[in-house]
Amino acid sequence: MIFGATSVKAATNTPPAVGTNSGNGTIAATEKDHQNMLEQLGIKSLRRGRDGHANGKNPANYDEAKANPFPDFPDPLTLNDGTRVTTPEMWWQKRRPEILEGFDREIYGRVPARPPKVNWKITATIHTNSGDIAVITKKLLGLVDNSADTNITVNMDLTLTTPANATGPVPVIMQFGFNFPPGFFARFGTNNFPPGSTGPTWQQQVLAKGWGWAVIYPYTVQADNGAGLTGGIIGLCNHGAPRQPDDWGALRAWAWGASRALDYFETDTAVDARQVGIEGHSRFGKATLVTMAYDPRFAIAYVSSSGEGGAKLHRRDWGEVVENLTGSGEYHWMAGNFIKYGGPLNWKDLPVDSHELIALCAPRPVFISAGSTNGDAWVDAKGSFLAAAAAGPVFTLLGKKDLGTTNFPPIGTALMDGDLAFRQHSGGHTDAPNWPTFLKFADRYLRTAELPPK
Ligand code: GCU
Repeated sequence: MIFGATSVKAATNTPPAVGTNSGNGTIAATEKDHQNMLEQLGIKSLRRGRDGHANGKNPANYDEAKANPFPDFPDPLTLNDGTRVTTPEMWWQKRRPEILEGFDREIYGRVPARPPKVNWKITATIHTNSGDIAVITKKLLGLVDNSADTNITVNMDLTLTTPANATGPVPVIMQFGFNFPPGFFARFGTNNFPPGSTGPTWQQQVLAKGWGWAVIYPYTVQADNGAGLTGGIIGLCNHGAPRQPDDWGALRAWAWGASRALDYFETDTAVDARQVGIEGHSRFGKATLVTMAYDPRFAIAYVSSSGEGGAKLHRRDWGEVVENLTGSGEYHWMAGNFIKYGGPLNWKDLPVDSHELIALCAPRPVFISAGSTNGDAWVDAKGSFLAAAAAGPVFTLLGKKDLGTTNFPPIGTALMDGDLAFRQHSGGHTDAPNWPTFLKFADRYLRTAELPPK
């Protein structure tokens, strides 16, 4: 997480996130786990990731003329055997499974066939007001069955707030939340997020539509470092052993947690579980896109500044690149196999690219956003736009509307006439400025159910 408008990044690999245990023990255990995966893959050396600083050893590219070194992208509508996909049936039965297999095996890893059951418990129900709206907040814990390995405990943390006076089940927007300790923002001289922001919070904006909001805390599902891979839900499924190369990484684990939260919503009469949206920023923007791609029950997604490993095309050279994700600071987000593409293989060897991850969401609506180059360059807004544009043919095949253009729009211009939407805002690395635009887009799809008159 980077606070404030900054176009640069301090180091090659990710700085520790809020809530990440970055102590020396964790770093050593992470290096060891990363090394273990390199050995499983027979990899002797990796290429260095890019530096955010222009005066770093290997600075990130911010020159459009050099941004497209591998112009051949996999075609979402051509089968691996070269046959053209011409009908929705061919998409659902042949091409979509091929693309999923590529992402499962090489990019995000496979979820185990039978992950443990989750038992959701409401630990508190609070009647309160949010601004002038009466709300009911439920605090929940998702207790994961750990009979397979009682040394590992996974209790997922979820909060759900719905309007107290709703006349029926309401749509809910769920966010992947960073775990900010109480008073965290005081150091920025504010209680608001992002620091310095004013106006209604995203939660208040959602409630103003008559909908509910929820936050799932991903770090209660899976830690945000390599050392944690032998714990959390991934470690529990592996009985505490290191991963195999095609095992799931943290992004799929976080997405799995979001799906289990949706299981709970299906049992809560305050929620219309067919109208649950998912939102996340930065690494959780990546998790949002993965959630939406893999779980067809999610109705809509707001993918904010997801960058490399999210909506940004892996084959594009701008800001963060594949090699940053294959280093020891970020490899845990991905399948072990992904590391190959930062060493023996290259970006062009990836069997799938991010436009196909967006295509997996079709025909459900997706809003993709990022900040300006001055403040969010690392994330590559244009690379995310190009991926959304290249996902368009799949939306069209399924009877939906694509972005409507392949020309990168001026900053602040929302493309949202179709079912794929995009907007680059003028601020830095934050999801705040695009909430009003996303909610306008979502308004076309989500509705509070009216109860029949008595
Ligand atoms: C780093 C990392 C990004 C990530 C971001 C975040 O900047 O390189 O890939 O999205 O952290 O999650 O804050």
